[in-house]
Amino acid sequence: MSLAPFDRTPAPVAKRMLDLACLEPGETLLDIGCGDGAILAEAARRGARAIGVDRSARLVRLARAKLRRLKLAQAVELVAGDFRCIRPARADVITLYLTTRGNSEVFQYLKESIRKDCRLVSHDFEIEGARLIQEEEFEYTPFDKRRILLYAAST
Ligand SMILES: C[S@@+](CC[C@H](N)C(=O)[O-])C[C@H]1O[C@@H](n2cnc3c(N)ncnc32)[C@H](O)[C@@H]1O
Repeated sequence: MSLAPFDRTPAPVAKRMLDLACLEPGETLLDIGCGDGAILAEAARRGARAIGVDRSARLVRLARAKLRRLKLAQAVELVAGDFRCIRPARADVITLYLTTRGNSEVFQYLKESIRKDCRLVSHDFEIEGARLIQEEEFEYTPFDKRRILLYAAST
């Protein structure tokens, strides 16, 4: 089931998402619906371990090629398939750029198995049922503002 079509998170937005989540070197980030790996690349650059899952095998191939080119592939694990095939208990930070409905679907599925101290960061869309910690409007360009929402896993 498709939770969202592909659209890339621009690098400055990905950076700000990871700043808000306070992603530390050595932590594990999981990007659900990782597309071509924009958020994974930023996480790996910061010394984190990154896991990406996407139902599109084509996008996962593109992500793999890009991460290899950037010499970041060793820090990243990629899975082609539905997000339900991932075990999220390792994640310190989970990133989402889906839709409100997609986020809700994912959160309902993950909420029992994610760590209580896991931080969730969403680009543009709310996560119903999770506890909002911080929300900001990020000016990507003067004509393009993005919402970044930081949540705690525990309600
Ligand atoms: C808006 S894109 C976000 C890409 C990436 N996270 C980023 O921010 O650059 C959403 C991605 O979710 C993937 N997707 C949609 N439904 C999915 C599902 N059920 N399981 C895994 N991935 C899914 C799509 O293939 C698409 O690449």
